[in-house]
Amino acid sequence: RKESKHYVIAFSQCIGDDAWRATMLEEMKRELSFYPEVTLLYRDAAGNSQQQIAQLRGLVNDHQIDLLIVSPNEAAPLTPMIDSLFQANIPVVVTDRKTSSGLYNAYVGADNIAIGRLAGQYMQHILHGRGRIGTMRGLAGSSAAIERQTGLQQVLDTAAGITLALDLNGDWTKETAYSLAQKNAPALAKLDLILAFNDQMAMGIQQALRENGFMHQKIIGVDALAGPANGLQQIQEGQLFASLLYPTGGAEAIRTAIAILEKKPYVRDNILQTAVIDKENAELMILQSAKIQEQQLDIDKRQALIAEQQKIYQSQQTRLNILVGS
Ligand code: FRU
Repeated sequence: RKESKHYVIAFSQCIGDDAWRATMLEEMKRELSFYPEVTLLYRDAAGNSQQQIAQLRGLVNDHQIDLLIVSPNEAAPLTPMIDSLFQANIPVVVTDRKTSSGLYNAYVGADNIAIGRLAGQYMQHILHGRGRIGTMRGLAGSSAAIERQTGLQQVLDTAAGITLALDLNGDWTKETAYSLAQKNAPALAKLDLILAFNDQMAMGIQQALRENGFMHQKIIGVDALAGPANGLQQIQEGQLFASLLYPTGGAEAIRTAIAILEKKPYVRDNILQTAVIDKENAELMILQSAKIQEQQLDIDKRQALIAEQQKIYQSQQTRLNILVGS
């Protein structure tokens, strides 16, 4: 492999402290291990748009960054700052959430309008076209919440038999969903189906309903993340009814970033696959992700071995040079 240059990639994450984004970062780091000369500057805005703006300012003022990967917490407040960086010729890769302007070099993530639509169609299918549903939306100003809502609305507009009977505004977190569901437990329990815009909120609702003695609620989420206590497992255990796969795209974001930096061809809109995961295919997904995980660990081990051998080789070279007096 050709030696990569000493590029500095800045990654501004809207909120670091959740399993889905931890997975994204892990995927990024793994992909970056193929480019040992590339530095990743990571900032976690902890779900605060003003903090994310300040961190972006800090990244460009205090560092020589070659490219920015960013997942904007809320679209509108982050747009002027990210646009100004793009206009200052810093390549921008947006991931998962977008700004409102479309000024970026590349997007990596699933199509959130399609996810909203697919969720709507799936609910229609489960309810045989008739029923009362409820939603728990994500953080109002974040593009993923806006787009999922748009997609869902497209289906609701044509689904005469489906009524949106309860529409709650969450903020993507389990905690907020839990406390909203505590307050609305009887109303939620009367619904035929509940769609939470992510699995974390679905789990918050599930917990609140359980604590209020309502057991058999059909709750659908989004993400279907692998790993203990995450969406896939919750589906398999019957805690969640279904989820829509929302890949994190960590590896793809890095690959796109490197292509841009190395002036190679790249795709502007990298749309990651989605799918409905329910009890029928959760098991298969779990097996697949376990297999990938296993192979990944194997690759990690091999890489560590190669790195060690390189070190030994280098120190032998140095000794040899001393011996021959060069
Ligand atoms: C993680 C998350 C996901 C969701 C995405 C939307 O922080 O809330 O659960 O799918 O962000 O941007």
